[in-house]
Formats: sequence, structure tokens, C-alpha cells
Amino acid sequence: MKKKILIIDDDTSLRRVLEYNLQETGYHVIPAASGEEGLLLFAEESPDLVITDMKMPGIDGMQVLKAVKESSPETLVIIITAFGTVDIAVEAMKAGAYDYITKPFNRDELLLTVAKALQFLELAVENRLLKDQISSNADYRTIVGSSRSMQRVFEIVRKVADTEVSVLITGESGTGKELVARSIHQQSGRRNGPFITINCAAIPRDLLESELFGHIKGAFTGAVKDKAGKFQSAVGGTLFLDEVGELPLELQPKLLRALQEKEIEPVGGLKPQKIDVRVVAATNLEVDKALADATFREDLYYRLAVIPIHLPALRERPEDIPLLLRYFCKKHGADKVSFDTETITAISSYKWPGNVRELENLVVRLLIMRNQDEITLNELPDKIRSGSALPIKASIQENIINLPHEGYSLEQLEREVVVESLERNLWNQTAAAKFLRIPRHTLIYRMEKYGILPPEK
Ligand SMILES: Nc1ncnc2c1ncn2[C@@H]1O[C@H](COP(=O)(O)OP(=O)(O)OP(=O)(O)O)[C@@H](O)[C@H]1O
Ligand SMILES: [Mg+2]
Repeated sequence: MKKKILIIDDDTSLRRVLEYNLQETGYHVIPAASGEEGLLLFAEESPDLVITDMKMPGIDGMQVLKAVKESSPETLVIIITAFGTVDIAVEAMKAGAYDYITKPFNRDELLLTVAKALQFLELAVENRLLKDQISSNADYRTIVGSSRSMQRVFEIVRKVADTEVSVLITGESGTGKELVARSIHQQSGRRNGPFITINCAAIPRDLLESELFGHIKGAFTGAVKDKAGKFQSAVGGTLFLDEVGELPLELQPKLLRALQEKEIEPVGGLKPQKIDVRVVAATNLEVDKALADATFREDLYYRLAVIPIHLPALRERPEDIPLLLRYFCKKHGADKVSFDTETITAISSYKWPGNVRELENLVVRLLIMRNQDEITLNELPDKIRSGSALPIKASIQENIINLPHEGYSLEQLEREVVVESLERNLWNQTAAAKFLRIPRHTLIYRMEKYGILPPEK
């Protein structure tokens, strides 16, 4: 398609020259004899490029430039200035002009400037398309895992995705529950519908009901008009109820009803509404405990968990770690980066309380801090590196110390015993000191000596 160029110049002969040259080169040219006419035509024609003279009676070039940039920041503007008025050109560039031409100019100069601008425009569009693609890819983010337990998860996801049953995803924080929920949506027949998330723990109790089911005008003070809830927004798609374990008891029957009858009642509404929504829920609470404590209704649990999917903690599937490391390097634009064997071993024996999220954060940090493309043991944070003498740690738990053949540093051993005692006692120093049968100040002294810090929350 021909590129559209709007030319604004009150000087008729100059305008004709511009028009002629650009038309001949194959552009679609729209001439305007004043700033006023120019802006009108701009609104009508949405040109790709605007070339405007600066000095004009009425609306001048600067005003044209500002108006164009305001209504369409992506449109490029080239200004024409008189010889010797560089300061005006500078000012215009500051206000967002792409380039300028000084009068008098020759044909080649004009055509080159225009060609350069249009090329820039194409690149910008391409760039935006690429960005859109990347961000939409981010929605379908891959779930990585080669372990048997993750393979099982993938299999269940494949099987349930295209059904209408409710799925409850359980697992510790950072194990990928949201990723799995999205993946179920993407693999289902609802993939072109919305994927709506609501975090039941993040919304104040008294707002949650209306957030979920909507309300009608006048239902409570502040309800000045009808408002759709997340259920209504998710019609035709999937509603992801995150941290559903935190749903207050009094709202649980309402959710149960929505799942059972496929209808909801907005706050203050008199008639139930039919809704077509697939529900996927997640929780990082221990479900058994919530059921035993009666903070979660059993009937609702069975409705939500028609198919339960449990995501194992990362420490239960260390065999996934090499693959995850490679995947995260790639995801963060560092394809070439690798980890030496020792480092992978250390990473694999760490406990990963924050699971895959914590691992990804580590990779991001290592990528920023690295000096070369192979990441080695001494680049790891202390708490991860210190776990690398695994045989010792494992055997301390059996109350036997198994020392490696090559010998072992007493200081290192002491350090490990201190870390282990703290970890066992959830970093409570009084308890750890008691466990080690030393006074607390001695423990603190050792911690300082070895630079042992509690894990950041
Ligand atoms: N198997 C995996 N493959 C690739 N990336 C993963 C995997 N599991 C988790 N991640 C990444 O780890 C991060 C945490 O995942 P997600 O938000 O799904 O966890 P979550 O279980 O919902 O955690 P929380 O309970 O804290 O909300 C995300 O950036 C996600 O992309
Ligand atoms: Mg989550």
C-alpha cells in the first residue's frame, strides 16, 4: 500500500514542488495550504507522515506538531525551517519532530529524509508486533519439567483441559499453580474466551462478594450503579480462583451454588443469573487441615476438586533443575550461559522453600552478576553453596557424621552444623542454641563468624 504523506505549507510554489517530487516517487500525497486545513486533513486521512513548514500565519508548524503528536504519538513529523533558524529546528525536535529539512533543499535531500522516516516507521511497527507476540507468548508460558511427577501433571492437564469439570490445583507457593491454570485454559475450547483471575486472599472480606458476583445499583452505600463481578467477566472463558482456601466461610455456600447450579446472584439482586464459566481454583494451604479445622466446607471442596492436581515442591523433583536452569537462561535472553556440574549439584541439593519462583529469581540475579558465560560455584549465594557438601548434611540427620575421603575442614563442618540447626528450628535462634547446647550469644558469634544470614522472606 502507498504511504500517505500530508504536506502543510502556505507557500504555494514550494508545496507544489514537494507534492510533485513525492508523488513521482510513488507516495500518496495530501497537500494543505495552512495549519488549519492541515489538521483537518490529518484527522480525516490519518497519514503515515506529516511534513510541515514552521512559519505560517494562523496555526503554525509548532502547533501542528504538538497537535499531531498529542492525537497520534506514533505519526512522524518532519519540519521545514528556513536557513539559519537552527534554534527553531532544535525546539521542534524537542517537541517530538522526527527530523527537519532546511530551506532551500534539493530533491535528493528531501527524498532521503522521507525514506529514512518511513523506514523508521516500518521498524517501529515491526517492533511493536514482535513485542505483542512476546507478551502473548508470555501468557502461554511453557511449563517445564522432565520429572515423572511433572509428566503426570502434564498428562492430567491434557486430559481435563477440554472438559468442563472444576479443577483444584494445590502446591506450595511458587510451584507453578497459576501457570497450570492458564495452561488448562489455553488447551481448552474456551481459549478464545477470557481468562479472569481473582485472588481470594487479596481482597477485603466485605468487598469479595461483590467482586465475585457483582452487585446491583443501590445494594449498599457506594453502589451507585450495577457492577459486573469476576464471574460475569469470565463468561465464555475460565475463572481462576486463586488462594481459594482463604475464601471466608460465609461466602462458600454462594460459590458452591454457582458451581452446582451454574447461576449466581449479584449482591442486592433478586433474580439469579445463569452463567457459563469454567472454574479452576488453586490453594497453597494444606487442604486436609482446612477440612479438619472446618475453615473450608467439605461439599465445596469436592465440587472444586472434581479433578485435583498437586504440584510437587521443587525439592521433591530436583531432576527438573537442569532443564529449568536452561529454560530460565533462555527466557531471560542468555541462551549461551551454562552452569558447571558442581554448581548444578549445589542448586539441586538446596531446599528451595520458594520453589520455582525462587529458582527463577536466582537465575536472573546470577545472569546480571556474572563475569563469564559459565556460572560457577562461588557465584552462588552462601546458603545454596553451603548445602553442596551433601553427604555430610544427609548424615547429620541420621546423627552420624560421614566425612569424605579427601578430608574435611572442621570450620566448614561447624558452619554446616550451625546452618542445619537453625534451619531445623526455623531460624529461631533461641531454639537453635538450645539444640546445639550452647548459649545464644555463642550461636550469634558463630553466625557472624561464618556470615550466616537467615533466608530473606
Ligand atoms: N514448571 C515451570 N516451568 C517454568 N516456569 C515455571 C514453572 N513453575 C513455575 N514457574 C515460574 O515460576 C513463577 C511462579 O509460578 P506461579 O505464579 O504459577 O506459582 P504459584 O504456584 O501460583 O505461586 P503462589 O502460590 O505464590 O501464587 C512464575 O514466574 C512461573 O512462570
Ligand atoms: Mg499464584
